[in-house]
Amino acid sequence: METASYLVRRGQLEQYFDRTAAHAWARLTSDGPVSRIRATVRAGRDRMRSTLLGYLPEDLRGQRVLDAGCGTGALAVEAARRGAEVVAIDLSPTLVSLARERAPAIPGVGLIDFRVSDMLEPSLGRFDWIVAMDSLIHYEPEDMVEMIARLSTRASRGVAFTFAPGTILLRLMHVVGKLFPRGHRSPAIVPIAERVLRRRIAAHPALQGATFVRTERIDTAFYKSQAVRLLTGGEA
Ligand SMILES: C[S@@+](CC[C@H](N)C(=O)[O-])C[C@H]1O[C@@H](n2cnc3c(N)ncnc32)[C@H](O)[C@@H]1O
Repeated sequence: METASYLVRRGQLEQYFDRTAAHAWARLTSDGPVSRIRATVRAGRDRMRSTLLGYLPEDLRGQRVLDAGCGTGALAVEAARRGAEVVAIDLSPTLVSLARERAPAIPGVGLIDFRVSDMLEPSLGRFDWIVAMDSLIHYEPEDMVEMIARLSTRASRGVAFTFAPGTILLRLMHVVGKLFPRGHRSPAIVPIAERVLRRRIAAHPALQGATFVRTERIDTAFYKSQAVRLLTGGEA
């Protein structure tokens, strides 16, 4: 059962990514020109995507991958290029249709099953790998860890995700971000210190024995996010 805070935040994210920021997000994730600030975000995000994909085997043929909160689908495309059977899911119909439009234009990409829904949707079934790049960072810690737990029970080989490391600088940027007029700022990112996240994961009943086997922080001027490859008790 989803908590009230989860449902509220999910609604805000759908509104933000589908309407308020859909155009800006489409631009940021394209090859088109962007401002210097956005260029550093784009570069950081490119590094993050390859870091997360680096946690998966190079050859993904015959493996099922969920791109959880796929946005415009860049990670899904890379996984498909490596031969994975990819389900790419996002709350935003606008971003998913853009992802669909972009994907076929890339030669050699296998079939990607793009869907508009909640990544926690149980009917998606089981996966070898689940990757959530910057899609859990907007949720309160309790909800974020619950999402990780639910995704973990459905991944037989591994889960990789990102969190917003709770540094003082990031908290400051977050506070300053709130000063921008509504509509121009991104939806709240909820920073969480690594030790707090580890503690919460260790305390979750469905994540007993789960450990960070890999973790890397990408820290550019305007993009700060930390990748985690979680080894869960249920992994094959
Ligand atoms: C910051 S964007 C990142 C998109 C993509 N992973 C990337 O890195 O380019 C976060 C995305 O997560 C999606 N999202 C957030 N919560 C979700 C949920 N519960 N189920 C599916 N998608 C979700 C949002 O709609 C948004 O497109």
